[in-house]
Amino acid sequence: RLARPRIRCRRLYSSVAASDIEHFKSILPPHAILTTLSPSTLPSSEIDTYNNDWMGKYHGCATTVLKPKTTQQVSDIVRWCASREIPIVPQGGNTGLVGGSVPLQDELVLSLASMNSVRSFDAVSGILVADAGCILQSLTDYVAPHNHIMPVDLGAKGSCHIGGNVATNAGGLRLLRYGSLHGSVLGLEVVLPDGTILDQLTSLRKDNTGYDLKQLFIGAEGTLGIITAVSILTPPSPQASNNVILALPHFDNVLPLYRTVKRQLSEILSAFEFIDRTAYDLAVKHGQGRALSDDDVDGAACFVLVETSGGRREHDEEKLNDLLTTLLDAETPLITTGVLSQNPAQFSSLWALREGVTEAVSKEGKAYKYDISIPLASFKDVVDATRDRLRSKGLLGEHAVKHVLGYGHVGDGNLHLNIVAAAYTQEIQDTLEPFVYELVASYRGSISAEHGIGAMKTHALHYSKNQVSIEWMKKIKALFDPKGIMNPGKPIFQDANGFSIK
Ligand code: FAD
Ligand code: MLT
Ligand code: ZN
Repeated sequence: RLARPRIRCRRLYSSVAASDIEHFKSILPPHAILTTLSPSTLPSSEIDTYNNDWMGKYHGCATTVLKPKTTQQVSDIVRWCASREIPIVPQGGNTGLVGGSVPLQDELVLSLASMNSVRSFDAVSGILVADAGCILQSLTDYVAPHNHIMPVDLGAKGSCHIGGNVATNAGGLRLLRYGSLHGSVLGLEVVLPDGTILDQLTSLRKDNTGYDLKQLFIGAEGTLGIITAVSILTPPSPQASNNVILALPHFDNVLPLYRTVKRQLSEILSAFEFIDRTAYDLAVKHGQGRALSDDDVDGAACFVLVETSGGRREHDEEKLNDLLTTLLDAETPLITTGVLSQNPAQFSSLWALREGVTEAVSKEGKAYKYDISIPLASFKDVVDATRDRLRSKGLLGEHAVKHVLGYGHVGDGNLHLNIVAAAYTQEIQDTLEPFVYELVASYRGSISAEHGIGAMKTHALHYSKNQVSIEWMKKIKALFDPKGIMNPGKPIFQDANGFSIK
């Protein structure tokens, strides 16, 4: 196990006590209170899933998990916790990749899982209003019969919540086409750290009446309040979607390829996703999508998945076929081959090769995940430099670091640099950090493109944000949460009246 972030407590928070449980019983029915505190007979294993993150990297020791069903219940719980100074970790689907969704110590976990109803959907405007705990896939299924899709899509869609997506400002696979959640979220309902309900759940496309407060909660990772409902604009479903995997002989071809693809596909291009050869091999090894034929992968250094979403199938197919012809007939082809999906099963299988990398990596070993924004041209250099660094320290090999790989959202300038090790060790950690963050800073990049700061990168914020920005973030945090009870330690540390992380 890795050492916990070093938290220097200036003032002790309260732990949940048996008397608090008695109070929670006046707010929630018994089945919505999971606690291992005496006189409960609940074994601690019952709340293990809430204490451990998706990667098995971060572990808390909460004694109590509350599962409210209504906004009023959330408000009553928070008001009580504020009066008792009990810290709270809001938890959605617990699929976050930076340790933000689990306690650092014994904070109370407030799970949104039972707040999972759609409040309204307007099939004309496409505006969906849903409880924060709705699972992304179930919302996709809900709007599909109305010929709409969710503007956000990610590999964790079967478990993550819309509230968690908003709290992390998740990027995902559709950002190239539909932009970030800062654009598609129209309104939020939030329970503030003193228990007040902030109702900004409007469904207006335009509203220039002062500060747009909801934007502060998008990407705040549960540090400013608990999102209880989301109003979001869902786009109409494309009439036709196609995809193709292109195999490239060198990474250097990715950028010219992106330019060509953008020019030729223009308005129908909806995704341009990158996986290097190691990522592809791991996806295949762990059964994510069907492997391409040996001929197709022969000599491939990396792959790009291109998706089109347009209005007419024949028109889109013609454009894609023209693109493939241009690429393959070129004097110096940028690709060695292209595999075009021919039916919905193949479409899903090609996507699985890209979407399934996260799952494959976690089956292969313990992942150190760096989610960075850097110039596209440097994607490969960063992966290579990291591998070289690990090699120079003698850390490459089956019993230490098994693989260093890169994949991600080329269209968004977002690389996922993953280091897959046999186990999490302090030696690997110290070899990677601050090395990776310094490398990112040397490109003026971002140390967190889409996953957030969580517990993982709190100490590293200054690599991407200057002192003035950090000071203002702290002021905002102190204004909303003067007692520092909302998801303490992540991602904005407080030093005025709470705690600080060295
Ligand atoms: P959680 O993990 O439960 O919480 C994440 C953070 O949000 C925590 O800080 C938590 O306190 C806070 N939070 C959760 N709910 C609320 C709420 N209602 N109010 C206030 N704060 C809240 N991320 C991407 O950006 N792009 C991807 O493509 C992507 N793909 C992924 C694929 C896989 C297989 C996995 C496992 C993860 C992936 N992720 C991706 C990361 C993760 O799924 C996203 O960050 C997701 O948005 C988290 O949602 P969640 O409901 O699981 O939130
Ligand atoms: C992805 O793009 O696949 C996700 O962000 C998850 C990951 O980084 O593994
Ligand atoms: Zn991603």
